[in-house]
Amino acid sequence: MKTYIFLLGQARELCLAELTEVLKFFRLGHPSVSGNLAFVQSASSLECDQLQSLLGGTIKIAEIRGKIPDLTAESIVEFMDVGEKTSYTFSLSVYSPEPKIDESLHGEVKALLTPKFSSVRYVLPKNDTLSSVVVTKQRVDEYLLVFDSKEKVWLIAKTVSVQNVESWSKRDFGRPFADPKAGMLPPKVARMMVNLALPESPGATKSLLDPFCGMGTILAEGSVSGWQVVGSDQSAVVVEKARKNLDWLVSEFDLKLTDFKLYVADATHVSKQLSGVTVSAIVTEPFLGAPFELRAGRLTQKGRPASTESIENTLKGLQKLYLGALKDWTKILAKNGKVVMVWPEINFNQRQYPVKKLVDSCEKLGYTLTQGPYTYGRPQAVVKRKIYVFKKI
Ligand SMILES: C[S@@+](CC[C@H](N)C(=O)[O-])C[C@H]1O[C@@H](n2cnc3c(N)ncnc32)[C@H](O)[C@@H]1O
Repeated sequence: MKTYIFLLGQARELCLAELTEVLKFFRLGHPSVSGNLAFVQSASSLECDQLQSLLGGTIKIAEIRGKIPDLTAESIVEFMDVGEKTSYTFSLSVYSPEPKIDESLHGEVKALLTPKFSSVRYVLPKNDTLSSVVVTKQRVDEYLLVFDSKEKVWLIAKTVSVQNVESWSKRDFGRPFADPKAGMLPPKVARMMVNLALPESPGATKSLLDPFCGMGTILAEGSVSGWQVVGSDQSAVVVEKARKNLDWLVSEFDLKLTDFKLYVADATHVSKQLSGVTVSAIVTEPFLGAPFELRAGRLTQKGRPASTESIENTLKGLQKLYLGALKDWTKILAKNGKVVMVWPEINFNQRQYPVKKLVDSCEKLGYTLTQGPYTYGRPQAVVKRKIYVFKKI
């Protein structure tokens, strides 16, 4: 039996939900969790590169190589598979709050390895852990040291894959069109939402619609991970930009087989434009209302002073829009199809203002809430994204 460690990103609950869904899709079991580490046991070797490139919320994957009661250089070297190389670069990263490791450990491990190579070098991690960029760029063999406080042993795990930071960043900042004012999802969050929409059986068709597609972030992440995608937005200008972004994606990421369709449509009547089309999922970040901001401690909306009444009014309007849309989508969604959707939550004066009563209304429309909400947003953000997963019954 092999055990793998998945290092989860900052929005831990969301990252874990994504990992759980992906493992379930591939029939790879269920993770157990400790802090930001998820442990997955498997009778055979996992395709870590494939899983890593699919997951938006996993930073790196490591395979446990051994357990040792005391961290000594000798016991660490015993579990390092250094292979046949002339030069060797390694790093030891600590993924436990306590106890701390001795700074001299890297040097002691180096001393033990030196006779085997013409050159041995180590990279000292910043704040105990090594970034994915450093692991990739400096070709570091990274070993994670994780203290198991129950068994009082150290686990030694070798990093076997890391997130392709360049690829994520290229899709985020390299695309021809962006619209930060309307709000754009970070690609990793879009990918996690797409993965939350995975069908139950690996053989099922994966087709998704984003009816508030904006610049096409969700469509892009769906395309890259093998979904058929359909997008729509009420603005023709926006749809044209999404099309150019997807054309760019297809050429830059060599997505020859991808088939995407785009429409100009109001999300509350999109079924008319798509008549005859059925999708297995709707994945979307809708219009979240005119943004609220704090300026010098005061709440503003569109640069003007705002009050709790403005918050309530905005949320009331959004609730109407979302309900109208969810009602229409029942005509497009396949049976057991999923809706993965962002709803805003406004945080002001230590209070949270969610979109009220929407879950109950969704149940009346024939949806069941199956997961969430998962929160995505900076701790001090006024508007946080809450991600809900519904199933059409
Ligand atoms: C928050 S943005 C979506 C951003 C998108 N997730 C991205 O990353 O680019 C919301 C989008 O909804 C569109 N929109 C607003 N009201 C709409 C409606 N009633 N029907 C369809 N689209 C609408 C806006 O034009 C905007 O592009």
